[in-house]
Amino acid sequence: MTNREKIPVHVTIIMDGNGRWAKKQGLKRIFGHKAGVESVRQATEFAAEKGIKYLSLFAFSEENWSRPQDEVNLLMELMVDAILKETPKLVKNNVKFLVVGERTKLPRVVQEKIISAEQSTSASTGLTLIVFLSYSGKWDIMQAAARCYKEEGVSGETLSPEKFEKYLATAGIPDPDLLIRTSGEKRISNYMLWQTAYTEFYFPEVLWPDFRKNDFLIALEEYSARERRYGKTGEQVNNL
Ligand code: IPE
Ligand code: IPE
Ligand code: MG
Repeated sequence: MTNREKIPVHVTIIMDGNGRWAKKQGLKRIFGHKAGVESVRQATEFAAEKGIKYLSLFAFSEENWSRPQDEVNLLMELMVDAILKETPKLVKNNVKFLVVGERTKLPRVVQEKIISAEQSTSASTGLTLIVFLSYSGKWDIMQAAARCYKEEGVSGETLSPEKFEKYLATAGIPDPDLLIRTSGEKRISNYMLWQTAYTEFYFPEVLWPDFRKNDFLIALEEYSARERRYGKTGEQVNNL
């Protein structure tokens, strides 16, 4: 097997372990979320340096709405602060910012900041940074099915994966090549269920607030060593 560096087109990260990180330091959970913003900054910078085209981050799931109200409120405030603070840097670094999820559930002020950040970075041609907010994989598939039925009136014979995925909230974004979930949890937690059909998974133990460029590099090395077969044999893949 060759370990030649393969750069994934789309890397997605389930940023997990903020609460445990805070607890370890005897702090409230929110301090873990705050510390995680620096990890987002570093991951974005690293992805751009490496020529990764899409970096997506799972920041808040549909299920996370059922956390204690004060944690939800503080997380929303943190999103607004981070978007406001980081947007000029994104523009300067040619990064395009996008949010995917059920936006109408977000507080109005968060929705406004998102639109403004998306507009300010819409001309960027470098890295696309996608933040998944109020997102769940089942929600995405359900809303796609409803819209697909309504707009195409599709029946079983004419429906194809290609036709269907145009209605997913991630339409136009290539499926992730590599999914990293920090904190050692080995589950998908209702994230991109359709889109990760052939994604490579990597589960480092590091907690998200401790995730640094070197952890990202190790993940890319692991990815480079993987052989993606898509159902074929190893011989078929290597003779391509
Ligand atoms: C991930 O960290 C951030 C969000 C889900 C918003 P957690 O808050 O889930 O941290 P742990 O899993 O409790 O350590
Ligand atoms: C998944 O983490 C969602 C995000 C990181 C945004 P959770 O911490 O909510 O997942 P579970 O509950 O441990 O599966
Ligand atoms: Mg968690």
